[in-house]
Amino acid sequence: MHFSQTICGLFLYAAIRTRPAHTIVRHHCRNINTILQRRFSTSNNMSSAKGSKVYVTRRVPPSGITLLKDAGCDLIEWAQDEAVPKHELLKGVVGVHGIYCLLSDKIDKAVLDAAGPQLKVVSTLSVGYDHVDVEECHRRNIMVGYTPGILTTATAELAVTLLLATSRNVQSAINAVRNGEWGTWKPLWLCGAGLDDSTVGIVGMGRIGSRIAEMLKPFGVSQFLYTSSRGPRETIVPAKHVDFPTLLKESDFVIISCSLTPETKEMFNASAFSQMKKTAILVNISRGTIVNQEDLIEALQNGTIRAAGLDVTTPEPLPLDSPLLKLKNCTVFPHIGSATEKTREMMSELTARNIIAALDSKPMPSQLKK
Ligand code: NDP
Ligand code: DGY
Repeated sequence: MHFSQTICGLFLYAAIRTRPAHTIVRHHCRNINTILQRRFSTSNNMSSAKGSKVYVTRRVPPSGITLLKDAGCDLIEWAQDEAVPKHELLKGVVGVHGIYCLLSDKIDKAVLDAAGPQLKVVSTLSVGYDHVDVEECHRRNIMVGYTPGILTTATAELAVTLLLATSRNVQSAINAVRNGEWGTWKPLWLCGAGLDDSTVGIVGMGRIGSRIAEMLKPFGVSQFLYTSSRGPRETIVPAKHVDFPTLLKESDFVIISCSLTPETKEMFNASAFSQMKKTAILVNISRGTIVNQEDLIEALQNGTIRAAGLDVTTPEPLPLDSPLLKLKNCTVFPHIGSATEKTREMMSELTARNIIAALDSKPMPSQLKK
C-alpha cells in the first residue's frame, strides 16, 4: 500500500470515530470518498428523510414545516391550533416514520403501537419531555429529539416578568386603572415586595434556572440558593447549594425551574408551603404538577405564603372557575415561557432538524440520550 494511502486510511479511521457522517464524506482521497459514500449511502438507503412520512400534531411555526418539505418528507398535519384528539392522533400516526409533537401530546405506548415498528423518531417542540414515554421509545430504538438551549433566554425573561408582576401587584394595578378603583395617590396602596437585598431560591439550577439568576442579579439580590438532584455544581452567578428545607426556609422568592420527574412531582405541597416564609413569593415556570395545586390554593388563601406567579398549572388551560383565578395574590400566565416569535421559529426549526437527521441516520442536533 502506498504511503499516502496509509495516511489517508488513518485519517479515515479518525474521521469515522470523531465526525458526523455527512461531514466526513467531503474529505480528500478519492478512494476514501468512494468507501465512505458506499458506507453512508447504504445507511441512507435504508432510511432517508426523502419520502418518509412525518406526522405533525399542530399548526406550528413555518420554519420547521419548510425544512421538512425541503427534505422531501411526506407530511401529515393536524394543522389546527387546538390539540389533536387522541383518537385522531392514533389514526394519523399509522405507518409514519417520524412524529413532530408538542408538550400537550402524550406520546405513550398506545401512540407508539399505533404508529408501528417503522417509527424512527419522535421530536418534541419543547425542552420538557415529560409527555413522552422516553424509556419506551428507547426500548423500541425510537430516537427522541427536543429543543434545549434555544428557549432558555426567552423563558428566563418570562420568569422574571412573572416574578415582578406578582411581587409588584401588576395585575391588580392594571385592573384598578381599568375598573375605576384608581383614586388619589395613596402611600399604602398596592405596595409589594422588592428584590433588593433579597434571597432568591432556585429549585433546579439548570439552563433556565441559571439564566434567571443572571437576569435577577442586577436587581440587587443579596444571595442565591439552589437545590439539585445531583449535588453542588459550578454556577454562573455565585450561588449556594442547600437542601430543599433550607431553601424553603430562607428564601424570599422561590423559583421552580427544574424538570418534572417522579421526584419533583408535587414536591411543593402543604408541608413545603408550611416551611416557607409567610412573606415568600413562589414562581413556577416549569410544569404545573410540580406543585400540589389544592395545597397552593389553601396556602395562598390562609396567608401561609404571600403570593404565587404561575406560568404553568394543572390542568392547562386552567378552568375559569379555578379558585386560583379569584385570588388577588396569584398571577397566572398561560404557559408562554418560550413565546417569542424568534424562539418559536428556532424551536420549530430544531424540531424538524432532529427529525430529518434521524431519518437520514445522521446525528441529531438535540437528542435525548439513553
Ligand atoms: P435543564 O435540564 O437544564 O434543568 C433542569 C434542572 O432541574 C437541572 O438543573 C436539574 O438538576 C434540576 N432538577 C432535576 N430534579 C431535581 C430535583 N429533584 N431537585 C432540584 N432540582 C432538580 O432544563 P431547562 O432549564 O432547559 O428546562 C427546565 C424545565 O423548564 C423544563 O423541563 C420544562 O419543564 C420547563 N420549561 C418551561 C417553559 C415554559 O414555557 N414555562 C419553557 C421551557 C422550559 P440536576 O441535574 O442536579 O438533576
Ligand atoms: C418547554 O419547552 O418545555 C416549554 O414548556 C414550552 O416551550
